[in-house]
Amino acid sequence: MTGIQGVDHIAVAVADLDAATALWRDRFGLEMGPREKIPDQGVEVQVMFAGPVRIELMRPLGPDSPVARFLEKKGPGIHHIALAVDDCGAAREAALADGGRPAGEGPVPGAGGTKVAFLHPASACGVLVEWVERTPEDS
Ligand code: CO
Repeated sequence: MTGIQGVDHIAVAVADLDAATALWRDRFGLEMGPREKIPDQGVEVQVMFAGPVRIELMRPLGPDSPVARFLEKKGPGIHHIALAVDDCGAAREAALADGGRPAGEGPVPGAGGTKVAFLHPASACGVLVEWVERTPEDS
């Protein structure tokens, strides 16, 4: 696999975004980033920063959101790990060609104008993996 640039973010599923934001800001001293609704993924995201590392707190926008189902089954917790890549679609296609199972369609719009796609946890040691393609002007 070529084109890997690093870890883009770690995403945490929460039920109460305001409470979770206050906790990660006040308890751990994370810096506040933007907050954004992403209807395509059924979530509202609060971006936080631990130095250069981006942590995204996510709440479901409605009962049909995949994050709502995650919270029902598992409760709050780490939802996915996102890898930064130079070509999201190529990374997804390569993983699928290698027998990987997709999680949803892709690439689709992500936070801050990015392009994203997901690989099913069954194909990545139980971890939902996201690929993020970020252009320089994205937040
Ligand atoms: Co993500």
